[in-house]
Amino acid sequence: MPDTIPLSPAHVRYGSNSGQPLTRRDGILKVTGAATYAADNHPKGLLHAVVAVSTIARGRVSFLDVAAAKTHPGVVEVITPANRPPLALDPDGKVGFFAFRIEVLQNDRVRYANQPIALVVAETLEAATEGARLLAPVYEAEPARIGFDSGTPYVPPVVGIGGATDVSVGDIASGHAAATHHIETVYETPIQYHNAMEPHALVAEWDGDRLTIDTPNQAIVMSRGAFAAYFGIPAENVLLRSPFLGGGFGSKAILAGPQILGILAARMLDRPVKVVLTRAQMVGPVGHRGATRQTLRLGTDDSGRLTALEHNAISTTSSFDEFIEPAANASHNLYASPAILTRHRALRVDTGTPGPMRAPGEASGSAALECAIDEAALACGLDPLEFRLRNYAEVDPASGKPFSSKALRECYAQGAAHFGWAGRPLAPRQMRDADGCLVGWGMGSAMFACPMFQAQARATLRSDGTALVETAAADMGQGAWTALAQIAADGLGLDIGQVEFRAGSSDLPDGGIAGGSGHTATAGGAVFSAGRDTIARLAELATTDPASPLFGAGNAGVEVRNGRLYRNDDDSRSDSYADILARAGLSELEGNGKAARDPADAASHAMFSHGAVFAEVKVDPDLGQMRVTRLVGAFAAGRIINPHLARSQLYGGMIWGLSFALHEEAVHDRRTGRSMNADLAGYHVPVNADVPSLEALMIHEDDPYVNALGIKGVGEIGITGTVGAIANAIWHATGVRAHRFPIRIEDILV
Ligand code: MOS
Repeated sequence: MPDTIPLSPAHVRYGSNSGQPLTRRDGILKVTGAATYAADNHPKGLLHAVVAVSTIARGRVSFLDVAAAKTHPGVVEVITPANRPPLALDPDGKVGFFAFRIEVLQNDRVRYANQPIALVVAETLEAATEGARLLAPVYEAEPARIGFDSGTPYVPPVVGIGGATDVSVGDIASGHAAATHHIETVYETPIQYHNAMEPHALVAEWDGDRLTIDTPNQAIVMSRGAFAAYFGIPAENVLLRSPFLGGGFGSKAILAGPQILGILAARMLDRPVKVVLTRAQMVGPVGHRGATRQTLRLGTDDSGRLTALEHNAISTTSSFDEFIEPAANASHNLYASPAILTRHRALRVDTGTPGPMRAPGEASGSAALECAIDEAALACGLDPLEFRLRNYAEVDPASGKPFSSKALRECYAQGAAHFGWAGRPLAPRQMRDADGCLVGWGMGSAMFACPMFQAQARATLRSDGTALVETAAADMGQGAWTALAQIAADGLGLDIGQVEFRAGSSDLPDGGIAGGSGHTATAGGAVFSAGRDTIARLAELATTDPASPLFGAGNAGVEVRNGRLYRNDDDSRSDSYADILARAGLSELEGNGKAARDPADAASHAMFSHGAVFAEVKVDPDLGQMRVTRLVGAFAAGRIINPHLARSQLYGGMIWGLSFALHEEAVHDRRTGRSMNADLAGYHVPVNADVPSLEALMIHEDDPYVNALGIKGVGEIGITGTVGAIANAIWHATGVRAHRFPIRIEDILV
């Protein structure tokens, strides 16, 4: 499988490549089935491994009928805690700040349902599946702990990835005391699973102590190091290929037990091994969003200004590791309040360990916050938009720093105008459609951080004037193959049709993490600077070459356009890349680049994307059936590289918000801890019929601080704001406030 994607003529544009609404370069490959996903690899001599998983959530495995499984003619090996080869790292240890304890048959303990308890390896998938069935495990089961009433919350050491558990700004007691309106409200959000279309899969092949793995991954070079560490080999010995991901949403940024087991099996049997999780097995060992119970206490004065904003969250985690959904952090940076207090507590339940899932923290946190803000606006007799404007944060409430840029006011104004918010009655149950359905309008503010990670890239200019740009970026569907190539072409002063872009493989320069909505900023920054570095070298060749029309232009400088360098002071004197290289006797010229945020800018400014989401719902007054009929979002996210792809990301986020508000919930049996809906029939997500007219407006924003290109990020912000907007619209339609997600018919019938 080539990891370079060919261009079709429809993708060729001249001039500035960034800003062009190009379609995905990999789109044709995907829709024709030519794109190779991890499980599509079939090296010679391939064995198939099937993970046997526990059907209890807590206890131990007392017996596995390994002999029966081994009598199956196709079965080659059964790996259990009794014969599992050692690893170079303790799987119950933490290999890094972004790593989790994994289950790789270290003992007979069962800590959640669907935990791997054996790996059956066979000549065919069918034989491995049948062998796993023959294991017929016997358990000593203990009662499972599921749900908020199953234990006592504790204070976790950190939340999210290394975040502070409790954060306090100002004096919350004084803030509450100064309030004339007091709002105390509780919201619950359920466990949610990533449910990427492509299941977690891995093909592993050893050659001595060199390892090649095909597995979908959002952090290719970082994960290469983690895989290598488990097997005690240098990172350079591992080739991790991940040209395409069928969705990741955070679940493919971390390693999981089944992948390590597949690699172990390949080494043990000295043959390539493939392991692919079933849909049901993706509910357990590969992360999820923990459930939250959030209690907000807001105080406002008579003019509708917040005097206190207190946000307490309890999040579920597993019995043996921690990832605490940082839900209360949603209250840090959005609304001005002289006193802000956020606290996180954690509760151990018998599930797998949660992990980052699209908009970790903000998705569930902003759902509760935006509903609470709606309640506060009502208490003050104010329109929800007016209330938000009165509490507009001119500087970051948490740090007091200025924002690097913040066009939230424009988002409110343009979103409201586009939606037609003006004239909305304050009281609920005031609007009906022609069929007698209750109509409600609600809104929510959207916000997401715009982090930048570190990345590197290499650009190679060729003698024919075309170029190759390389970085180990990951495209989980968001469009990195296209947007990064656009930026790469701009860095080189070429058209995108003249640039070959390679990504998705660990033998390329580290492209950073496709996560945190920061991949375009990070990997984009690296490819741009690699291009610039190449051009700087090229310009030096030309301006010092007496045969070049640019000779001596060193002081005046040169400008880059369409594969040529022009003298700044004389546009009639130019030289082509190909000619410069030819005269210098070079067949190619390489430049290198890297990207990271300027520490001074990071220290002096708060950096976030912002937005405003407006929702219309219709509710059947007799049946309580709810439908979202319109969603308008307006987002300010810095420079937009590809409006077509960015809109698609924003739509995806808004649809996820709709899903959060009305559909998604993982149900676990309270007695056994087993998942009751580990499939896409029982775990509801919106289908086309559920998704209304959607609009995502992109508000212009120049940001001189976030990074050299002014890019923020659009991957996650669409969820935030949307959940609250829909919940608030349902209240506006019905007059009933639902306090748990997803909102169900029985929650609003009175
Ligand atoms: Mo994401 S949860 O940063 O993939």
